[in-house]
This record gives sequence, C-alpha cells and structure tokens, in this order.
Amino acid sequence: MSLSQLARAIAESPTIRLNEKARLLKEDGQPVIHLGAGEPKSKIPIDAVIAASAKLTTADVRYTPTDGIPSLKKAIIKYTEENYDKGVAPENVLVSGGAKQALDVVLTTLLNQQDEVIILAPYWVSYPEMVKMKYGIPIIVTPEDGRFHPRIQDIEAKISSYTKAIIINSPNNPSGLVYNEKFIAEVIELCERKGIYIIMDDIYHRLVFDGYTFTSCYKYSKAELDTSKLIVVNGVSKAYAMTGFRIGWVVAAKSIVDVMINVQAQTTSCPAMVSQAAAVGALNGIQSGVEALRVFLQNNKKVMMQELSAFEGVRIEEPGGTFYCFPDFSAYSKNSNALSELLLEKAMVVTVPGSEFGMEGHLRLSYCGTVKSIKQGIERIKWALDPNSPNEIYIGDRRMVRDWK
Ligand SMILES: Cc1ncc(COP(=O)(O)O)c(C=O)c1O
Repeated sequence: MSLSQLARAIAESPTIRLNEKARLLKEDGQPVIHLGAGEPKSKIPIDAVIAASAKLTTADVRYTPTDGIPSLKKAIIKYTEENYDKGVAPENVLVSGGAKQALDVVLTTLLNQQDEVIILAPYWVSYPEMVKMKYGIPIIVTPEDGRFHPRIQDIEAKISSYTKAIIINSPNNPSGLVYNEKFIAEVIELCERKGIYIIMDDIYHRLVFDGYTFTSCYKYSKAELDTSKLIVVNGVSKAYAMTGFRIGWVVAAKSIVDVMINVQAQTTSCPAMVSQAAAVGALNGIQSGVEALRVFLQNNKKVMMQELSAFEGVRIEEPGGTFYCFPDFSAYSKNSNALSELLLEKAMVVTVPGSEFGMEGHLRLSYCGTVKSIKQGIERIKWALDPNSPNEIYIGDRRMVRDWK
C-alpha cells in the first residue's frame, strides 16, 4: 500500500476501539458494564441548550473568525480570571474543536522534525501519537517508584538540546492524581530556566475532590504573558459534560496564538458556530452543574475505592480528581491487554489496558457511570480473577462459567 508511512505508524485509539466493541456487544443485547468511559453522562447545562437552540433557530449558521467568536473569547477570558487568577486579552485566546484539536494545533505550531516532547507516565493515550504525527519524538518519563507522581529530577535527566516542550496533565488521565503544588512550581521554574514550552492540559481542573487543590500554573510563572512559554489548554468537554460539542481552547502568548490561528485556518477554518454558542451559554450560565458533577464523581470515587480495597492483590492510589483510577492488577496479570480482553470477553466489563497509558500491569477504570455499575463491574472482575470464586454466576439470566485459569 502506498499510504503515508507516518499515518500507518499511528496507533489506533484504544478507548475508541473499546467503546465500539462495547457498543456492538450492547446492541447484541449483551449485559456489558462500561468501566472504560471517558465522558460523564450528566446532562449538558440548560444555558448551553438555550444558547445553541437560539443560534440554530436563526437559520444563520456560518463560518466564524478562525480563533472563535468574540463572545466566547470574552467568556474564556472571564473563566481564566476566575479559575486561574490571570488576566488575559482576546489576542491570547484561540478557540478550537475540543481540547484535542487545541493540543494538535499547539504541537503543529511548536514542533520541528525530531524535536522532543517530554510526556509523564502514566499519560493520556493520545499524547505520544499526537507528537509523532508532527514528526516529533515523545520522551517518556516514568516515576521510578512505580507510583504516579512525577519527580523533577527524572524530568531534568531527560532534557536534551532537542527538548522543545513538556506536557503536564493534572488532574491526570488515567491516574486521577493531582500533582502537588511544589512540583508545579518546580517544573515551571525548570522549563522557564531552560527555555522549554510548558503545555498545561487542564481539561479536568474543575473536577478535583475535597482535600485536593488545583494549582494555577500562572502562580509560579516569572515570565510576562507576551514572552511566556506557558500554554494552557482547556475546554468544556469534561466539566460541563459537553463532549459532543467539540469546543476547547488555548491561552498563550500572542506571538504563539497568531501562528496557531494560521495553522487552524488552513485545517478546519474555525470551530463550529452552534457549538461555540453553546460554550458561551455554559461558561456564562449557572455553574451549579459543574459542582453537582464534581460531588457525584467524588461519591462514585469513594464507592470505587471501597470496592477495590476489598480486592486482595490490587494496589490502588486514591485519585484526587477526574473520573478515573488506575489500579495495579499485576498480581493477576502482567499483560494488561490480555487482562482487559479477558474481562470483556468473560465478564462483560470494559476496562482500558494500562499499557496504553505507558504503565503495564494496570487497568484504567472509570467511575463516571452509576454506583450500581461500579459495584457490579468490580464484583464481576473479582469473580473473573479470584481463583476461589464460584465456578459459575448469572449475569441477568445469562449463565457465565469460569472456563479459564
Ligand atoms: C487528558 C485529556 N486531554 C484532552 C482530552 C480531549 O478533550 P476534548 O474532548 O475537549 O477534545 C481528553 C479526553 O479524554 C483528555 O483525557
């Protein structure tokens, strides 16, 4: 085949593949429990519905400025003031088609061939592939102690003359870990000293549980915004449960945003107008839905921790945010892909293998579904893995038999 070598080298998205598999099984009437989901199921804010409907009913839905409609940029500026304690100007903001596209535009804008981007394991599955798509080289930093919090000396050791950027994602997908303030301060100091771009993927920053705090990166930046190498990526997908609208954004120095506008103009022209209107509604409207989601997830996390703590052999670090946790199942299997396949096939539970996030032996489990699905899902996993389990169980009226070791 004469397709691009680069494109053929890009790995399939495991979460999208698993979602599809689960959807097909469900369609087939199978009692699948989805602990692999990457989106909350709560309703989108009513203000988003009203704003999007109002735009639609004008029947006047057009291209917008490449960097977003002024009212959305204004709402993002207010959001940045309120959540980051940072004043920014419209020239510092680019609206994009989800945080994912925002990251893609950032990487296109920053990377030359062979430039290195430091990525902290466990990492969101897409980072290494996105870097590779720009002919860059992902440099993975894995904590030596087998835990999830990165150490500044491990990062420093991986910096070379090719290091262009680092991606920081806290609260973290998949571990749910909120990096501590000292680390954020250190990493910003280090990168500003070395002239490295810092890409903060803050998509989960409002979904932080009691006892944990999100640190605004601007608090520790010594650079003026105009010369700063800090690039903040955020969006409405997670906190407002608006994954389907595909609206994210970047806040950065004007000189970076100016180039990103050219990149985005030549790829998608602009984000979809109705979606932008919905995002304005969400950001300017009543915020109680975000808090309700946060509390819901906090409660679900508690249930997930309770269920997992009663699971002998599974090691778990408590998440401080997001809707994921990343337990270590290596006592049962060192091959997370095989384990995930087994759990789907034999127990009808969707999990995401840790190898996809750069840490073998783990599984990513989501708790953004119902309490019932968490309890039943973990119960089924236990049944499948514990050799002392009964030989057969009923799931609904389906008889499941343990015919494996
Ligand atoms: C860490 C992280 N960044 C970015 C995204 C993408 O967000 P969006 O749906 O806004 O593109 C996700 C989605 O799962 C994510 O987990």
